Amino acid sequence: MQKRLRLTRRILLISLLVLWVSAVQAAKCPQECCCVQLNVTCVNKNLTQVPPNVDERTVKLDLQGNDLQELPTGAFRHTPYLTHLSLQRCNIHKVKEGAFRGLDRLVFLDLANNNIEILYQESFDGLSSLKQLIIDRNRVAEIQPGAFSQLGSLNLLSLSHNQLVYIPNMAFQGLQNIKKLRLSNNCLIYLDTEAFVELVNLRRLNLSRNPILCNRCLRPLRVWAFFNKVKLVGTCGGPSHLSGERLNAVDPPKLRCQSEEEEAAGIIPRPTEEPNKVYLDQPFCDPWTP
Ligand SMILES: *[C@@H]1O[C@H](CO)[C@@H](O)[C@H](O)[C@H]1NC(C)=O
Ligand SMILES: *[C@@H]1O[C@H](CO)[C@@H](O)[C@H](O)[C@H]1NC(C)=O
Ligand SMILES: *[C@@H]1O[C@H](CO)[C@@H](O)[C@H](O)[C@H]1NC(C)=O
Repeated sequence: MQKRLRLTRRILLISLLVLWVSAVQAAKCPQECCCVQLNVTCVNKNLTQVPPNVDERTVKLDLQGNDLQELPTGAFRHTPYLTHLSLQRCNIHKVKEGAFRGLDRLVFLDLANNNIEILYQESFDGLSSLKQLIIDRNRVAEIQPGAFSQLGSLNLLSLSHNQLVYIPNMAFQGLQNIKKLRLSNNCLIYLDTEAFVELVNLRRLNLSRNPILCNRCLRPLRVWAFFNKVKLVGTCGGPSHLSGERLNAVDPPKLRCQSEEEEAAGIIPRPTEEPNKVYLDQPFCDPWTP
């Protein structure tokens, strides 16, 4: 009796295995792609849309070097099990609201080297497991309030080499697990502490290569970083006597208003020799005025 039971169990196991193997072999692979089990690679193919016939169980999808232009709402609804998604160099200029909806297992999303200009309020909806989001080398100039509000698991957000001139107060709302935030190589002159206060786990804020003006406006951020043990990476872009000083080392008392003489003479300290220097006629905050 025991023996027969064991035999039946073994047969059952073997047939399950056979079923599984044939299912894996039968996995659909689009013509333009290479599929190794559940890794699908469709690189440098000029694809104008996400291939609709990728196997539903795919976990890694690499679409680097295509021509997707716009990511529509629900662009990945056919592949809900994705954990890694690479979309570098895809000429993407617009990520529509809900483009990634349904990808609640995704941990890594790379959108580097595209032409994205605006991060909409619901661009990253549904990515509740996402740990790393890379948006380097795009043209992001605007982050709508709440754009990242669904990304409660995110550890790293990388926005270097974009065109950010200012960070609105609610920009990073909801990123309660973020540890590293990279904003290097943008056009940031002034940063309001309000944008960062909610980020209770932040360890490092990389502001390298921004024309940051180290004056009175920066003092709250410097003090906040000190008390919250957040490392500020980068240097002052101005005024001239502080230019090049490390943000993490500059004494808060040194961060003060311009002298009245300079003001009277109409001399406004400008960031020096920064690659991305932008001079604003109409400052959004009042970093120029005492
Ligand atoms: C899937 O890709 C990853 C790298 O992204 C690799 O480490 C892994 O071995 C691949 N799996 C298969 C089954 O090829
Ligand atoms: C992609 O498009 C470019 C320019 O139109 C062309 O030169 C290249 O051969 C295309 N590549 C493929 C794989 O079709
Ligand atoms: C900060 O960003 C710059 C420029 O992208 C990079 O070279 C540097 O390694 C980063 N530093 C840290 C400590 O993350």
